[in-house]
Amino acid sequence: DDDQLLLSPRELLTNSFIRAVSKAYPEVPSSVVTLTPTSNPKFGDYQCNAAMPICQQLKAAGKQVNPRVIAQNILNELSASEVTEKVEIAGAGFINVWLNKSFVCNQLSSLLLNDAKPPPPKKKLKIVVDYSSPNVAKEMHVGHLRSTIIGDSISNLLEYMGHDVLRLNHIGDWGTQFGMLIAHLQDMFPNYRTESPSVGNLQRFYKESKIRFDTDEEFKKRAKESVVKLQKKVPDYIQAWKLICDASRKEFQKIYDRLDIIKLVERGESFYQERMLELVNDLTEKNLLEDDDGRKILWGEEKKEGEIPFTIVKSDGGFTYDTSDLSAFKQRIVEEKGDWIIYVVDEGQSTHFQCLVNCARKCGIYDPEKVRMDFVGFGVVLGEDKKKFKTRSGDTVRLANLLDEGVRRATEKLEEKNRHTVLTEEELNATAEALAYGCIKYADLSHNRNHVYVFSFDKMLDDKGNTAIYLLYAYTRIKSISRTAKLDIEVLKKACREKGLTLDHEKEWKLAKVLLQFNDVLQRITKDLNMHRLCEFLYEVAVTFSEFYDNCYCIERDAKGNVTKVHVDRIILCEVTALIMKKCFEILGIRTVSRM
Ligand code: ARG
Repeated sequence: DDDQLLLSPRELLTNSFIRAVSKAYPEVPSSVVTLTPTSNPKFGDYQCNAAMPICQQLKAAGKQVNPRVIAQNILNELSASEVTEKVEIAGAGFINVWLNKSFVCNQLSSLLLNDAKPPPPKKKLKIVVDYSSPNVAKEMHVGHLRSTIIGDSISNLLEYMGHDVLRLNHIGDWGTQFGMLIAHLQDMFPNYRTESPSVGNLQRFYKESKIRFDTDEEFKKRAKESVVKLQKKVPDYIQAWKLICDASRKEFQKIYDRLDIIKLVERGESFYQERMLELVNDLTEKNLLEDDDGRKILWGEEKKEGEIPFTIVKSDGGFTYDTSDLSAFKQRIVEEKGDWIIYVVDEGQSTHFQCLVNCARKCGIYDPEKVRMDFVGFGVVLGEDKKKFKTRSGDTVRLANLLDEGVRRATEKLEEKNRHTVLTEEELNATAEALAYGCIKYADLSHNRNHVYVFSFDKMLDDKGNTAIYLLYAYTRIKSISRTAKLDIEVLKKACREKGLTLDHEKEWKLAKVLLQFNDVLQRITKDLNMHRLCEFLYEVAVTFSEFYDNCYCIERDAKGNVTKVHVDRIILCEVTALIMKKCFEILGIRTVSRM
């Protein structure tokens, strides 16, 4: 049926091997069956090594069987399938599988006809992704940039897989810093109730109020009282708070607009105020809070060594980052009915999230059997000197300036290639932006997120190697092939439907098989949320495409340059390549351009 066609060769093979193993060895779990693409075409396209773990399991049960015999027994149960051309036992008991050509061709056509849509998920999940989450009145820094880029792309991927994704911006908008900010605002703009002041440079405003807080006892007292009034939602204080949040929000939005961050819903810590009150009542009733020198703390389920408790209520009665996260976790599970909750936050906060999980289990908010929770951590951003990413004068880098510099460098790059003589000014600007933001995102996403990440414009804007600029060039080149061939996508689809596809050349074949791994790669990332796998795949597609293109004519021309022959099947292969690349770019949040 249709869904079968949408499954990748690996999935189909896995399914039929699972069936065969369960017939030959009903006592072994199906998890022993895995199929991996082979690195050497001598060994076919995929390899199944299930005979080895089965041999181990039998041995443990006191039975000695040669793995080659086991492999043969599996093959005896393997039903004939259109997927495979040939199956062979090799070496110690490996099963090598060769894919059937016409099957691969059919799959490729169906990729094109179905717009590379993955099969619908077995169960559509409600997924909450918490990312970006900067703090009001503070500058959004490179850590927030990483969280924004990674979170956006993980959300795109899960949505693409057919899930229901809620993207939440857990803005820090309710901390104690608001006491001093409000008190300072009241002094600086006494008329703030009637005329909305423009707070202007929030950074400076924050610093000024901090200095007063640290040096002026009277101010400090007022600041502390202001927090209490704010958390009690006294209208005047709420109004002042809103003014400050609005000013920040405008700054954040500028960054989001530039980076095409569109579906992110703002739901800051303040959202949970009433829920925090309820939670604390509930925990008090259940006798879960312990008194610790005036603070109320909550210990987690597992009291491991080095375990730290959550501070739920401070000695002055206020709530903390811990309180709002526990409330938010509950809200996401109970009210949003989240099946899966994801946090994209820097690695430095991993202990906090471990405690969150532990505490949430302790008070019955979270059951790991029912809800999946992932802390998606990422390493710190370093400068090219391998030290913490800073400006030359040692200040934190402003994101707006960083993006500006990216665009400036991308423009230079395009001018070096004389593109400004070909493109209109508008096109040049659009291309420079797409390149700059694309390169920044790609450089981030293509690194294993668990490692530290060295930010280097020179590297990310290199047009050779695994960079967005190389990939975007490759993509526009491929798109221009079908433009030159003057074959409309609908014509190509019609050809697929009516005649199907035939591939002969070894390089066509190689490219086709790489393209058919798309779905597997997405499945795999759904398990471990490592976006660099998609970048590796995208790069492999581009490289394999150029191998194909160097060896196979798509369009033939006479001496005068006139087109004499168009190879329709190859143009279809070009279009499927472009389609898959486009989907990857979309998931990664990278804009494509039609000319560059
Ligand atoms: N505002 C926090 C920070 O800048 C990040 C919040 C992450 N999300 C969360 N639910 N704690 O460090």
